Amino acid sequence: MKVIITKDYQQLSAVTAEVITKQIKQNTPSVLGLATGSTPIGAYKLLCQACKEGELSFGKVSTVNLDEYVGLPSSHNQSYAYFMRKHLFDKVDIDQSNTHIPNGMAQNLQEECASYSKLAESLGVDLQLLGLGSNGHIGFNEPGASQDSSTHVVTLAQSTILDNSRLFDDISQVPTRAITMGIADILRAKKILLIASGKNKAQAVLDMVSGPVDSSCPASFLQLHPDVTVVLDQDANSLLNY
Ligand code: F6R
Repeated sequence: MKVIITKDYQQLSAVTAEVITKQIKQNTPSVLGLATGSTPIGAYKLLCQACKEGELSFGKVSTVNLDEYVGLPSSHNQSYAYFMRKHLFDKVDIDQSNTHIPNGMAQNLQEECASYSKLAESLGVDLQLLGLGSNGHIGFNEPGASQDSSTHVVTLAQSTILDNSRLFDDISQVPTRAITMGIADILRAKKILLIASGKNKAQAVLDMVSGPVDSSCPASFLQLHPDVTVVLDQDANSLLNY
């Protein structure tokens, strides 16, 4: 794993946007694997700005998102489909028919998972962007996740529900299940870029980079991938101490 330490969230966002921009400019067409959550918002903002200024185009980009809550329609303001439109898709020149997010409202969730896994594999992700859960999750692969998992329905860990409750009026409104790409889906990407910011990620960062490869920290499976870059701010690096 290549680890880059940045001085703060602003610099972390700039480095992230730079890596994504390089991917888009050097490889046409590009398939991006994307994450939601607070961490990538700064980078998405910079990418939208670059597009607005005519320095970057998403015209030849396709995207595959990692996950979506079960039971939230895409119109719900906490769905990941809504998040992606708000923070990226509605502000860049992407053809929205080339954007993909699991359908958490599907009648048959098993079928949805199987077809999403196949779709991601057939598109072939060039660069996968990941955030990191404070419990070491990637996507919504919670502790205990298996290395060979494909897209599946997961019951969210209590710590994830608690972390994400900041975005809902009340913790009782946080969905308890989600569809997530599995560890095997994630590891299939050609390149992986994981970003983490804040003290609450420091233990998970330490376990991911220097702990054993073990399902107790699903992000540690990234040690098995040949091309992973981890970008941290000082707080996220506070226990790893690179
Ligand atoms: C979101 C996702 C999650 C988040 C993680 C960190 O699509 O896959 O794994 O990346 O929970 O979330 P933030 O960035 O809000 O701390």
